[in-house]
This record gives sequence, structure tokens and C-alpha cells, in this order.
Amino acid sequence: MKNGKIGYAVAGLGVGVSHVNAAATNPKSELIAVCDLKQDRLNAVKANNPDVTTCTDFGDLLANPEIDIISVALPSGLHAEYTVRALEAGKHVLCEKPIEITVEKALKIEEARVRTGKKVGVIFQMRSNACMLPFKNAVDEGRLGRLILATFSLKWFRDQNYFDSSGWRGTWAMDGGGSLMNQSVHSVDLMQWLMGDVESITSTIGVYNHNIETEDLTASILKFKNGATGTFVSSTCITPSRSVYLQVYGTEGLIEVENDAIKTWKVRDMAEGEEEEMIKTYGGGNFSAVSSNPTLLTGHTAQVNDMIDAVLEDRDPQVMPLEAIKAVKIITSAYESARTGKTVYLG
Ligand SMILES: NC(=O)c1ccc[n+]([C@@H]2O[C@H](COP(=O)([O-])OP(=O)(O)OC[C@H]3O[C@@H](n4cnc5c(N)ncnc54)[C@H](O)[C@@H]3O)[C@@H](O)[C@H]2O)c1
Repeated sequence: MKNGKIGYAVAGLGVGVSHVNAAATNPKSELIAVCDLKQDRLNAVKANNPDVTTCTDFGDLLANPEIDIISVALPSGLHAEYTVRALEAGKHVLCEKPIEITVEKALKIEEARVRTGKKVGVIFQMRSNACMLPFKNAVDEGRLGRLILATFSLKWFRDQNYFDSSGWRGTWAMDGGGSLMNQSVHSVDLMQWLMGDVESITSTIGVYNHNIETEDLTASILKFKNGATGTFVSSTCITPSRSVYLQVYGTEGLIEVENDAIKTWKVRDMAEGEEEEMIKTYGGGNFSAVSSNPTLLTGHTAQVNDMIDAVLEDRDPQVMPLEAIKAVKIITSAYESARTGKTVYLG
């Protein structure tokens, strides 16, 4: 704590800048320190936050008693190592998505959380999109009837420089995959959040238009435990980028979201004018999903604020590790299916 406020630190200053901005503007927290290996990124944050301490050694954050929460926004394959170190040093952690690139590594975070009694939140900011709560409530209340089909797709474009400028991207060791693990993990999370547990997945993947080792295009067919079917397409080589689509169909209707905006709302027992009202309220969206500018990721602010409140109120943060691991399990199963040419049953 510092000056009666939660002491906040951020490690990794790519998307981590959105954590910095949120912590610096929250009246209940004080931005104490930032850590990155790149001096230019440290300098850029310092220019906007003159009182912040900068460092290149994560250990400096751990040794600082004023720091209560550390945002871990490092390359994905480092999340477990650095999150566990922070927990063992007595810090709470807000970890970027994906929680880790394998289930085994992600479970180390959960094990350390339980052992240390510290809090771990995981970023899945798309859950905070305004349209998602009414979508989730309608599904849970059975307003679509029995769920039969989910068709989800994320067809984006990332140029080669996106991969070359941060060497960990597009590698199995640090990114854990490509368009599915990195860009689409949000949609995979939303899909399992809405549809429930996945029973099996059959996938094909490939590198179609980049010089990377993982994949820039995947296609999957899923069976959910509730009997519904799903399809999921992800890509970073579609140019120009298309919208993100989340479409859920039941025996009594369908809800369709494009990026973060409700486009279709056909549900059971619709009140007169309900669809028009839903589209009026949630059809504009609150965030441009195709933006690559981290400072525009407003959902991060909501989750950083939630993490600060979770520590102050001694409650769980919005997204806990075991919930975040579900998307990693689905994605790694998709990769296993593509590698083996077989359907993978998730158990
Ligand atoms: N929630 C979202 O929408 C979103 C968006 C982008 C990225 N991410 C996630 O955030 C994480 C980072 O992605 P990014 O795009 O910002 O990557 P990036 O490469 O732009 O930034 C990572 C930073 O970490 C620094 N770093 C690496 N190792 C370090 C170490 N040992 N100590 C200190 N600093 C170190 C690098 O110098 C780099 O500046 C990834 O897990 C990614 O999946 C999430």
C-alpha cells in the first residue's frame, strides 16, 4: 500500500500499457513501478507517469513492499513462471490472457494461488463487453430453447512485422499457437461460457501466409456436452480483416453478435419491440474489436478496477484461473487433433 492506496505494478509494456493507464487513473490505486526489458517502452510510460519507478528486473517488483498487485503482461509462455514468483513473494496477480499456453503450466498458477492464499485474476476483457451479459442471461434463462449450434469465427489480418517485431509471437514455445491461442482465445472463452463444456473437437490447422512456425488459420468442429454442435474458424491471414462473429442457435431462436454489437435477437417470448430495443441498446458496441491499439481496450480498465476492488474487499476477481484454463484446454485439444488427425475427447 502507498498513501492508503493499493500499490500497483505492471510487467510487460505492450498491452500492459492498458493496465498502466487503468491503474494510474483508478482513485483507489497508485501506480508504483513498471518493468520491461525494452528501455524505450519504459521511457514512454515514464513520460506520462513521472513518479513511476522503472526497472528491467522483475525481481525489483517483488522486493518492493509498496506493491500489492502485479499485472503480468509478458509473453504468454512466461505467465506461469512470473505469476508464481509474484504469488510466492506475497503479491496478488492480474495475468494477461491466455493464462498460459498449456494446461499443465496454467495449473501451476492455480496451485500457487491456493498455496499462498493470494488472488489471481485473468484478463478476458471481452466478457465485459456490454452486450455479453444480456446474451449470457438469455442463454442461461433458456430463451433460445435447447441449444443446437454455435458458429464462431475470428478472421483477422496481422502482417509479418507483427510477428517479427516481437520474436515470441507465432512460436510454439512462447505463444503456444497462433490465431487460435493468441487472437481467438477470447472467443473460445466466450463460446464455452455461453455453450458449456466441450465434449470433443476435430480440427485442422495450417500456415497459409506468414513465415511463422505455429498457424495462421484453423478450422474446428466441436461437440458440446449438452449435445449441441459448434464450428470455430480463426485466422490472422484474412485480408481485409472481417468482423468477429458469435452466433448461438437454439430450438427457439438465435442471438448473433458482430464484434461487440448485438445484430440479431430472436428469442422465446419476445416482448413487443424487444429486438429493436436490444439492437438500439447493444447494437452500437463499446469497443472496436479489430483495433490493435492497446490504449483503446476499454475492457482492461474494467478488469483492472475489478482486481483492485477484489483485493480491497477481500473477494474473488471476475475471472479465476480454473475458469480461464477451460479455453486453454479447448485450444490445446484443437492443436492435438490437428497433429494426430483424430477427434480429441476433452473428458
Ligand atoms: N487482452 C488482450 O486483448 C491482449 C492483447 C494483446 C496481448 N495480450 C497478451 O499480453 C501478453 C503480451 O503481449 P503483447 O502483445 O503486449 O507482447 P509484446 O511483445 O508487445 O510485449 C511484451 C513485453 O514484455 C517484455 N518482456 C519480455 N520478457 C520480459 C522479462 N523477462 N522481464 C520484463 N519484461 C519482459 C518485452 O520486452 C515486451 O515489451 C501476451 O500474453 C498476449 O497474449 C492480450
